[in-house]
Amino acid sequence: MTINRRHFLSMTGATALAAVCSPYALATSAQINQPPQKVSAKMETIQSLARQKEHFLGYPINMNTLPKEFFAWRNELATAGFNQFAFNNVGNPYEHSHIPFNSHSFERELIDRFGALYGFPDGNTWGFLSNSGTDSNMHGLYMGRTILHSRTGVPPKIYFTKEAHYSIQILRDVLQLESVIVDTKPDGAMDTDDLERQLNIHRDRPALVVATIGTTFKGAIDPIDTIQERLKNRNAYLHLDAALFGGFLPHTPFAAELMQQTVNPLTGNTSERYDSIAVSCHKFFGFPSPAGLFITTRKNFTSFLTPFSKIHDPEYIQQVPGTITCSRDAVKPAEFYFFSSEKALAQQAADAKDILDNTAYLLKEMNNHYSHLRPVRINDHSNIVYFIAPDKTVIDRYSLATMRLSLDGKLTPCAHVVIMPHVTKEILDRFLADLRIA
Ligand SMILES: Cc1ncc(COP(=O)(O)O)c(C=O)c1O
Repeated sequence: MTINRRHFLSMTGATALAAVCSPYALATSAQINQPPQKVSAKMETIQSLARQKEHFLGYPINMNTLPKEFFAWRNELATAGFNQFAFNNVGNPYEHSHIPFNSHSFERELIDRFGALYGFPDGNTWGFLSNSGTDSNMHGLYMGRTILHSRTGVPPKIYFTKEAHYSIQILRDVLQLESVIVDTKPDGAMDTDDLERQLNIHRDRPALVVATIGTTFKGAIDPIDTIQERLKNRNAYLHLDAALFGGFLPHTPFAAELMQQTVNPLTGNTSERYDSIAVSCHKFFGFPSPAGLFITTRKNFTSFLTPFSKIHDPEYIQQVPGTITCSRDAVKPAEFYFFSSEKALAQQAADAKDILDNTAYLLKEMNNHYSHLRPVRINDHSNIVYFIAPDKTVIDRYSLATMRLSLDGKLTPCAHVVIMPHVTKEILDRFLADLRIA
């Protein structure tokens, strides 16, 4: 029997449910038993999307097709069994797992390699490969909240600016934190004088501070060292959201920006600049599905695990995991391991140079030909140029992200281009030519 809409609506709830849930209904459902021509139409749409990649300028995703060595690595992993049956990275990758079907050894090694790139001390690095930058931020905030609450007996307040990624507000809600919105300077970076003012107002509560290294729309950088000065002698945890810039800054003359440790040249003493960092893998690196690096110190992890394990001790998996989710993807860490090889890091260095050069090129050309759009590159670390929104056809053709910004005290629709590794000078020239209809 085929169930049409009228027939379905005339059924009572339970009958209707049984009708759609019956094996017969499932077998005939449009989703899983489509005529072959519908599937091939979908494939054609996907193929046409592949041809449109070079028009994708508005969001921070590297659309380059990965080198054939990546696919060879994928095949090698598949030959070994990865992605052929159910592997699972449940638990702490630095501990023995009672479920042997995991890629923890790849995960540990890649975290240690990227940890070294961000200057985490050798032997004092902990982390894992998460599902995304947001997921890594969630772990950073959960860790900070747990450490501060257990150290002081009082839940912290979370501090961030209005330029922080929108997911920070969502995570604030998920973690039931009270927030303090810190003012920004004209360039969109955190105003540390306001931070200090706010810290003094809320001095009865510890401070969980999120610094963004590369804000989503403008590319502003919150000043870590001045933030740390303001946090001195306070109960605080500093998490870095470096979702995009974290991928490329280590390969530029600005690598020191993300170093976890700093050495005092007079005393030779080292001090920590931040507690944890989140970086997206699909943004600068161009990993083909969403993933994130979450890295912290082993010392922080231990401070987190002590209170965590008093409440959560899942005997069932024979270890205290320290991660929020139980099951974790095993395929992504094994595949992302490819991005930690010397050759891959050399490619990342070349891409980092190209994107900064091409950003300077776009800014120069826009200033020369479209100065009425008032293009801005907020700092020389940034691969973002924002400007007054052009014609809608250009916005749609290049998937430009838009946002209203205050210009001369007036809310003005603006757009930005994020210069990712697939965005060559030729692509920018085409975009510049199209701006003529702006
Ligand atoms: C600063 C910042 N943080 C976090 C995110 C979210 O990252 P993801 O998409 O990997 O969850 C973004 C995304 O654009 C971002 O710009």
